[in-house]
Amino acid sequence: MILNERTLLFERSFKIDFKIIIYTGGKLNLMNKLLTLTLGCLLLIPQLVPAAEVNILSERQEFLLRPFLKAFEENTGIKANVVYLKKGSLERLKQQPGAVDALLTVDISNLTAIAEAGLFQPVNSSVINKNVPSNYRDPKGLWSALTARGRVIYYSKDRVKLSELSTYEALADAKFAKRICTRSGYHKYNVALISSMIAEHGVAAAKKWLQGLKNNLARKPQGNDRGQVKAIYQGQCDVAIGNTYYMGKMLERDDQREWAASVGIFFPNQNDRGTHMNVSGGAVTRDAVNKNEAVRLLEFLSGDLAQYMYAQVNHEYPVKEGVPYSGIVSSFGSSQEGVKKGVFKQDKRNLSEIGSYRKKAIQILDEVNYDK
Ligand SMILES: [Fe+2]
Repeated sequence: MILNERTLLFERSFKIDFKIIIYTGGKLNLMNKLLTLTLGCLLLIPQLVPAAEVNILSERQEFLLRPFLKAFEENTGIKANVVYLKKGSLERLKQQPGAVDALLTVDISNLTAIAEAGLFQPVNSSVINKNVPSNYRDPKGLWSALTARGRVIYYSKDRVKLSELSTYEALADAKFAKRICTRSGYHKYNVALISSMIAEHGVAAAKKWLQGLKNNLARKPQGNDRGQVKAIYQGQCDVAIGNTYYMGKMLERDDQREWAASVGIFFPNQNDRGTHMNVSGGAVTRDAVNKNEAVRLLEFLSGDLAQYMYAQVNHEYPVKEGVPYSGIVSSFGSSQEGVKKGVFKQDKRNLSEIGSYRKKAIQILDEVNYDK
């Protein structure tokens, strides 16, 4: 759609100038005709060079993105055109090649699937390489993370002792029988977590763990991450799995604050590989018309200002070293040994490796009938 609008603008400016030349051409001598033609061409040139712009497809929400893009436009002079989409960016990129220069989305399984479909192009930017740690970038430069979030254990402050919690693996222990809630196993956040278990332990061991986790569920998988916190608040379960930023967002809402206040965050696997991290990320599309501008956008979003804004507005972890966490995020895990000011050990395995196991993760979800 965006591309079509630009094409129309091009055609309109060309036709107007063309008519002027024809009209004056009939009345003037040869020198004047040449002069008119030259002036006509000069008039045409600036109109054929459009202002720098970048066409963005975003699965990140408008409230979050708008302030960043305003800052980007002010800083770079590049106009940011955005189409917002809830999901389905892979299909959209396939259907409209060239209409989108940059994709902004969430989740490693998603980024990996689109990269494997050949719809991104490699970017080698020294700015991005400096701002974003290598485990948060595709080794071929096909995508880069822009923020991170931990997939952590939510626990009832009343009914769970911290000493009961340790690792993702331990959630399959019998002591958690009928005490755990999760959303659908097939949700991309859980697919990524299961993929990370496969990366660590192999398919067979990960499947055994997933069966154990299913056996411990207090109810059929349902709802979203916030719904699991509500279920703990209501006493349906004691322990759940969810993303860190939802706790920050619930604490800011009058109708959800009580749910969040009844629950603590525990960072699993602090004594071994660290807590599984997922990301939001960005990429330049294979058919980008405005490639340089798209790279500038990703560079800007990985920089100090945008990283700070992401952290404050959405309670996500900045990927750039040294950018402060939000106040709420700094309080996460405050009762957990080894966690200071919200800083914990993150799993540093490259996310592209984790993403590569997503099909196997879905296969073992099917085999254990996780959602049924
Ligand atoms: Fe989310």
